[in-house]
Amino acid sequence: MPEQRVAIVTGASRGIGRAIALRLAKDGRHVVAVARSEGPLNELVAEITAAGGSATAKTCDLADSGAVTAMIESVVSELGRLDILVNNAGITRDNLILRMSDDEWDDVINTNLKSVFVACRAAARPMMRGKFGRIVNIASTSGLVGNAGQANYAAAKSGLTGLTKTIARELGGKGITANTIAPGFIQTDMTKDLPEQVIEGVKAMMAVRTLGTPEDIAACVAYVTSDEAGYLTGQTIAVDGGMTMC
Ligand code: NAI
Repeated sequence: MPEQRVAIVTGASRGIGRAIALRLAKDGRHVVAVARSEGPLNELVAEITAAGGSATAKTCDLADSGAVTAMIESVVSELGRLDILVNNAGITRDNLILRMSDDEWDDVINTNLKSVFVACRAAARPMMRGKFGRIVNIASTSGLVGNAGQANYAAAKSGLTGLTKTIARELGGKGITANTIAPGFIQTDMTKDLPEQVIEGVKAMMAVRTLGTPEDIAACVAYVTSDEAGYLTGQTIAVDGGMTMC
């Protein structure tokens, strides 16, 4: 069993998840990087290892509940512990509500909300055994204030805040914290195709007048998952350059 804390990071193949994996590894965690495709995960593991850290890659389709449970169980049986769970993977299937199909709704709810419930349920017991746990669910400011064209995404992300607060209440007495981080607009594949005009409008809404970076989110995750953050739980932390302030 590694002496280091073991951290699962979903959606680690690129963007925010990749930055979180790199940061947690730099901070001395053994990182289990999870995504669908093996190639980018192997590159990430090689990068972490070359920098003196330790990491493992796990492929998993998070939209498949059975696969999520099996992935968590395999991490616990192979590494003997699970201390940190960062549910970061997410998708968008944007459409105005009048045009949104059942499939667009179901895909986003399954990947962005149900998979997080399933992962937290599977992680709870091993964390309770270890008398320590840090759960971080990556939501979105869309879930805090809504966003036209994102009924499915905003509902899923808003659902994460209720789920997380409930986990915080249920497991707080066992040394386990659960928090939600709500990024604003972060420079990743998810936002790279937004028209320049939209980006300029978004920047104007932010107190700091710039888009965030994946590293901005990773820095917050690093603190929230640290041993010293045991008194911080049930919170939704908007890392959004002062866009919402709610
Ligand atoms: P991204 O699209 O660059 O990366 C998403 C990651 O999730 C990828 O690694 C992808 O492989 C993985 N993923 C998606 N569906 C999966 C599935 N079914 N099974 C396994 N892995 C799957 O996204 P980005 O921008 O890095 O976002 C990360 C998280 O942050 C998401 O939950 C997103 O909703 C949230 N977020 C992002 C914002 C942004 O401005 N980029 C703003 C607010 C929230």
